[in-house]
Amino acid sequence: MTHSNIETNPHSHALGGKVEIKPRHMSFPFEDVQETFFWGGNSILTVFGGALSSTFPPGEAEFIESVRNYRDQVTDETLKQQIKGFIGQEGHHSHQHKQANLVLKERGIDAVRLEKHLEKDIKKYIGRKHVNNKFRLAMTVGMEHLTAIMAEFILTNPDVLDDLNPTVRELLFWHAVEEIEHKAVAFDVFMLCENDQKYLRRVLRLTAALFTIRIACYMVALLIWSRKRPSWKDIKEFGSFMFNKKKGLIPGIRSNYKDYFKEGFHPWDHANQDLVDMWKEKMYRPEHDLGLQRANAKAAKKAAEEAAASATNLDSGLPA
Ligand SMILES: [Fe+2]
Ligand SMILES: [Fe+2]
Repeated sequence: MTHSNIETNPHSHALGGKVEIKPRHMSFPFEDVQETFFWGGNSILTVFGGALSSTFPPGEAEFIESVRNYRDQVTDETLKQQIKGFIGQEGHHSHQHKQANLVLKERGIDAVRLEKHLEKDIKKYIGRKHVNNKFRLAMTVGMEHLTAIMAEFILTNPDVLDDLNPTVRELLFWHAVEEIEHKAVAFDVFMLCENDQKYLRRVLRLTAALFTIRIACYMVALLIWSRKRPSWKDIKEFGSFMFNKKKGLIPGIRSNYKDYFKEGFHPWDHANQDLVDMWKEKMYRPEHDLGLQRANAKAAKKAAEEAAASATNLDSGLPA
């Protein structure tokens, strides 16, 4: 199904079009991660962070592919631009997590091995008969919902990451912000091209179950490979991070997770774009923004060239 205008679709959402989806070329100093158990010395929280990071590069490559499969069907200019932004952002996330995973591996948390494992699994999964483009995109929409609600959780409660290594924390906050910015793109593409929200709801249950099982298995693998037996303190702190009634991840995302099952739900029903502004104001560090540095260097070079040209013109008596 092809639509020429996003506004003609009852599922399109005015706010989505107002949020700029512009990839930021960040470069984080992962060599600063010196410790093996980079999350407050806690082995379980560390392998949770490592397991998550290992899934991003192959997972996000699949998100990009599943949206790309529909790109030709989208003629709306706004959505086309948003798809471009989505692809750019996910590509950068993937790249930065790959860099992080290499350092984690060196420290004894072998996220690279898991990255390769998931890459192979995804290849196998795509080759299966029942896995068509609709199913792949619906899985992506589901994963985008999960990442967006986790992003909202950590940006609303940044103190839950206080014990995390500062560089890894900065990586997660940046990633979270861009997940919020592009959270509706895959959803809008799906609704424009497939228009089957009931199907999305069915697939989310499966997506959430598969994701949880995979993260749990990867955590166990990382713990075994790091040869670390978790202490009671580690278990208690991890339990609190996940399940604490006031500040736990699961209670914190439960209500937003369920909203997906409401009739006519759209990701921007969670109007949390203020979190992006908060990040820009309080968390963004321009010294790690490679794109900004390149733009500044280019501007400085241009200004120097113009000044030199103007000096030459003065020397030769020509008007500057
Ligand atoms: Fe991402
Ligand atoms: Fe995403």
